[in-house]
Amino acid sequence: MEASGKIVSGAVVSAPAPQHFDDPAGDIFAMAAQAGRAFMAGDRPIVAKAPHLLEDLFGGGLPEAGHGAQVTLQRLIEAGEAGALPSGRPEFFGYVVGGAHPVGVAADWLVSAWDQCAAVNDISPVAVAAEQTCQRWLVDLLGLPPQTVMGLTSGCTTANLACLAAARHAQLRRFGWDVNSQGVAGAPPLRVLVGDSTHVSVWRCLRLLGLADQVTVVRADGQGRMDPGHLAELASAGTGGLIVCGQVGSTDCGSVDPLAELARITHEFGGWLHLDGAYGLWAASSPQLRPLLAGVELADSWSCDAHKWLNTPYDCGLAFCADETALRGALAIDAGYLDTPERKGRDPLDFRVEMSQRARAPMLWAVLHHLGRAGVAALVERGCQAARHLARRLDGQDGIRLLTPVVLNQVLIHVGDLRHTRQVVEELNGSGTCWTTPTTWQGIPAIRMSVSNWRTDVGVMDRVAGQILDTHALVGAAGPPTP
Ligand SMILES: Cc1ncc(COP(=O)(O)O)c(C=O)c1O
Repeated sequence: MEASGKIVSGAVVSAPAPQHFDDPAGDIFAMAAQAGRAFMAGDRPIVAKAPHLLEDLFGGGLPEAGHGAQVTLQRLIEAGEAGALPSGRPEFFGYVVGGAHPVGVAADWLVSAWDQCAAVNDISPVAVAAEQTCQRWLVDLLGLPPQTVMGLTSGCTTANLACLAAARHAQLRRFGWDVNSQGVAGAPPLRVLVGDSTHVSVWRCLRLLGLADQVTVVRADGQGRMDPGHLAELASAGTGGLIVCGQVGSTDCGSVDPLAELARITHEFGGWLHLDGAYGLWAASSPQLRPLLAGVELADSWSCDAHKWLNTPYDCGLAFCADETALRGALAIDAGYLDTPERKGRDPLDFRVEMSQRARAPMLWAVLHHLGRAGVAALVERGCQAARHLARRLDGQDGIRLLTPVVLNQVLIHVGDLRHTRQVVEELNGSGTCWTTPTTWQGIPAIRMSVSNWRTDVGVMDRVAGQILDTHALVGAAGPPTP
């Protein structure tokens, strides 16, 4: 077989007859299961082993004749060995990345085998039924208003998009404007008020919705939380529709906006409160942590990711909306070919931006069914406990300073100037022992760690704290690199 001019194992075969289910398929499923299991279960360093091999492994021209399924799969397994970063390890703290729970992975494999298109009920009753159950369970678990509906999305970005489209639709409706037929040009004014820590994905959605020029940033406190006094001032200053975007867990430090205040002010002016709770909304499942989110149920829409703190495999976003009419109104589509006699009741495509998509609900259902109410709460509480433990171990050691209190599962530390910070991150990530990301917090260079993995606990953090302290000391002792 040719790959960039090299001969690798396996014979070239002619393309299999498309109408036959490939008989050796059993072998390829066993190969995938074995390789996948070994990847997940192994104690691998958190590095991509040999990314320089990927060009050869994936490269070359499109084969004229196809290859046997086993040959193809073997090549893919080798590519994964070379270039898949084991971000499911409990010492991975970069971005906000959960580790896939085994039951979710197994369910996801099954869903792939079922090959369901979870757009409409008539072609995937299993996806629709699972989605309805997940909606019921999650609305209850997260304590959202009982009438809340849920759409499954590719991630929190598209969940934000669905929710903000509903917000725009409803707010313009208040002023007699139908955005679906009349568009945005010449529409009544809309004021969009966002916090200082609003995630970039919300900004992207506001751009896509044609609202970027109507946004004002509300002043924030030292933890990046919206100042309700300033919010009230801005909300009362103008006229027209109002959308407020709050944060349940900011990406850098995990802070939560004063949600009850946000809801009171927004609704006083007839506005719509959307909350980005990409990972933080899961804290609502824990009776211990719920008070931190007081008032969360008063919002009009919420976005969240199951692939973050709930630890489903990628990808699974959640768009929740308390106003079904607004969500459906914003996303409504119709076509003759969609109007089949079998279509009845709920069709997932009415609750999200995507039309065709894989059936995420059975996999989401499997993780929720496996963990149960107590398991989800324990997962979230364990992450917070581990984050607090790490912060305690680091704060005040060798010049390291915690920049904000640990509210949920994010730890934000200052270790030195920008050069030192980047060097510490580079050394840590290169060592394979743990993985972090640098950031700048209110002008100060920092390392941020997101504790979002179901396997991270206090014991893991004891090891990680030692690694961070050693690396910080080593980089400090080495001094700046010679030019
Ligand atoms: C607070 C917040 N909102 C939204 C997003 C975007 O989520 P996704 O990458 O699933 O689209 C992220 C991603 O980390 C996030 O942290």
